[in-house]
Amino acid sequence: MSEPTFRMSQQRITVDDKKIINNDRTVDCNQLVPIKYRWAWNFYLDGCANHWMPTEVSMQRDIEQWKATNIFSADERHVIKRVLGFFATAETLVGNNLVLAVYRCVDNPECRQYLLRQAFEEAIHVHAFQYIVQSLGLDEGEMFNMYREVEAIYEKDSHAMSCTSSVLEMNPDDLKTKEGLQTFIKNLVGLYVITEGIFFYGGFVTMLSFGRHNHMPGTCEQIQYILRDESIHMNFGIELINAIVDENPQVWEEAFKADITEFIKSAVSLEQAYIAECLPNGILGLNQQLIQEYIQYLADRRYERLRLPKMYGSSNPFPWMSEVIDLKKEKNFFESRVTEYQTGGALEW
Ligand SMILES: [Fe+2]
Ligand SMILES: [Fe+2]
Repeated sequence: MSEPTFRMSQQRITVDDKKIINNDRTVDCNQLVPIKYRWAWNFYLDGCANHWMPTEVSMQRDIEQWKATNIFSADERHVIKRVLGFFATAETLVGNNLVLAVYRCVDNPECRQYLLRQAFEEAIHVHAFQYIVQSLGLDEGEMFNMYREVEAIYEKDSHAMSCTSSVLEMNPDDLKTKEGLQTFIKNLVGLYVITEGIFFYGGFVTMLSFGRHNHMPGTCEQIQYILRDESIHMNFGIELINAIVDENPQVWEEAFKADITEFIKSAVSLEQAYIAECLPNGILGLNQQLIQEYIQYLADRRYERLRLPKMYGSSNPFPWMSEVIDLKKEKNFFESRVTEYQTGGALEW
């Protein structure tokens, strides 16, 4: 939020001068090195090593399966469209929050380096859903308006956006007050912990279940890459939140912890309502109860990472999801194709 320091000076910056936020004019936000927050730089390197593009993934089999009349039931078509409809706008929403709100407030160069990488990945995710919707010949008007027209999706997006507008309206000095910092941290929780760490997972587990049945392989391959990216985004976000709290311990007071706990809890309820709307009858061994358990299990893990007590005590009904996330993607989970590559290489399928 502060102007970069740029003036003639013989005084060099040391790591001890650097902070996550509120650097003001004490350090130069254009100087990446010396690196203080090594974890932020490492997340940036991890993101670059995972580079992918949607159009490298063939949608041929998905198109054939979607056109066939004997593969998907009406319930399955409904849930596929609901999942794609949610993501079609949610990825743009995340990108906007990142660039317009988070980037302004976080003036540490290591973190900004990662934020720039993440912003590009969000653009790739937006591209992925546009590519999937277009490839399958879905009604674009229906898909890209779903966040306004389907209540369960509208409620999730409204919840995610509820604390962004106050960050957009902040003045530079607001981050120096306890209340301003708390508003900003709550926005980070809404973005990284709730949207990327809870709201995306009902869709991930549902779509990847189709992949486990050899349905929608191109869509699922892209979802798998997105899940891999999102898990890095969320991990970065949690490190960022904890680092801000560590440097500004006065914000982490009991009332604020209770507020954050409730904020996450209300998101779990909204995700359950969304799943109920998507999946009224159960498909492919999934039902509302199992996904509810899974979302609660994830929420508990997020609470722990934020150093808050667990709320649910649910176990993981989908251990295969951990494998998808943790595989580090030497291989495509479903088809065992080698997919890991460094930037610039062409994939050969
Ligand atoms: Fe994304
Ligand atoms: Fe993301």
